[in-house]
Amino acid sequence: MTKQILIIDDEDSIRETLSGILEDEGFQALCAESAEVGLTLLEDNSVDLVLLDIWLGDNMDGLTALEQIKKFHSLPVIMISGHGTIETAVQATRKGAFDFVEKPLSYDKIILAITNGLRFAELEKENRILRDKTSGSTEITGDSPIISELKQQIKRVAPTEAWVLIRGNHGTGKELVAQAIHKQSLVANRPMIEVNCAAIPEELIESELFGHEKGSFTGAHSSKRGKFDQADGSILFLDEIGDMSLKTQAKILRILQEQKFERVGGHKTISVNVRVLAATNKNLEEEIERGNFRADLFWRLNVVPITVPDLCERIDDIELLVKALMKGLTSRGLENKKFSKKAILRMKAHSWPGNVRELRNFIERVAIMCPSDTIDEEDVKLFLSPAKGTSVTPVPSGAMRPYSAGTFKDAKRDFEKEYLRKKIQENNGNISQTAEQVGMERSHLHKKLKSLEILSQES
Ligand SMILES: Nc1ncnc2c1ncn2[C@@H]1O[C@H](COP(=O)(O)OP(=O)(O)OP(=O)(O)O)[C@@H](O)[C@H]1O
Ligand SMILES: [Mg+2]
Repeated sequence: MTKQILIIDDEDSIRETLSGILEDEGFQALCAESAEVGLTLLEDNSVDLVLLDIWLGDNMDGLTALEQIKKFHSLPVIMISGHGTIETAVQATRKGAFDFVEKPLSYDKIILAITNGLRFAELEKENRILRDKTSGSTEITGDSPIISELKQQIKRVAPTEAWVLIRGNHGTGKELVAQAIHKQSLVANRPMIEVNCAAIPEELIESELFGHEKGSFTGAHSSKRGKFDQADGSILFLDEIGDMSLKTQAKILRILQEQKFERVGGHKTISVNVRVLAATNKNLEEEIERGNFRADLFWRLNVVPITVPDLCERIDDIELLVKALMKGLTSRGLENKKFSKKAILRMKAHSWPGNVRELRNFIERVAIMCPSDTIDEEDVKLFLSPAKGTSVTPVPSGAMRPYSAGTFKDAKRDFEKEYLRKKIQENNGNISQTAEQVGMERSHLHKKLKSLEILSQES
């Protein structure tokens, strides 16, 4: 994208020469003969960098203008001056100027200063996004009574050595809770070692957890430390513990009790000091009854149980969550998008069976698919199925979802629903346009959309 540079200088000749040079270099130039005009231009345009003269005649001087710019905008400002003293340069740097170039302006120097300034701004932006992402990823957003209680529990248990079993449905934030416990624990400066028990194949889990010695099995070309070893003196997070096989459960139990183990193919006993956090979305009591989970392992892990509530139990957190989750989308150029009050109300009426993960995916989808900066109730309705309370995944162009196995009538209804939803998306929610495209009367289409529950009955 072409970068826009604002030149604030009271000398016509400087503005003309500079804008010519910048345009030759592929930038877009905006010119202001005074700080006042420059500040107005900054409000109305998306400027990437400012070239600011220090002496600006009788009006606001460059250093004051610099202060104003820095107060309201985050962009690099390069000062230019023909009367530059070291003192003014120091003052300008203190006030946040990125660089200082003296007049008469050297073509090479000014282009180098601009290139560096833009690169710096780019890096600063990347940095901010990464910071937002990392801080966002461990921040438990919400101030509803149930989430405040959860945060209290975390605060109480984190600085102890207690083992914690984190329970809750899919997408409620169990991993986030584990990360929060680690962050507030006595070993926050050491990495928490995570193992997703559901993702590791049965035949590899032992080697993954306990490590192996060189040559202990085909393919073991060198010895390897296991997760228990790596977590010594820190925290081991066993995620999806309910999906672990009974065989592995038995091995884990011994280690959890004795804090000792041998590597696969090894004879040396390794002692470790590991605090275990475990998470599951399964009802372990039921799994025990069915014979799928060991009761003794359950009791060993379940020293402090923490249950993460479903999103529908804390629906008032939606507004804060939407704000926090939108921040996470900054890298995709969606930072200016907002959900209207009515859109939020509509979202609060949804049951969110997929919890915060469903909400996060929904927000990203709507923000990408809606062309306007304000996402309204109508946009939300279009992407949320009102009747069943489940969200609707927009179908990628050309693709259709499989139809429900049922009667011909069911399949026909499924087809109509998919087809019309796709057409409406293609027309950005415009019903008249869609009606024209699919060759239907507008009023007929409207009725059809209601009967298919693509639009709610009230609309
Ligand atoms: N309170 C919260 N504040 C902000 N983001 C949250 C919150 N809870 C969950 N999330 C986000 O929702 C997503 C799902 O969270 P997480 O992976 O922790 O859920 P989970 O309970 O482990 O799900 P699963 O059982 O499917 O593994 C993540 O992107 C997480 O950052
Ligand atoms: Mg998880």
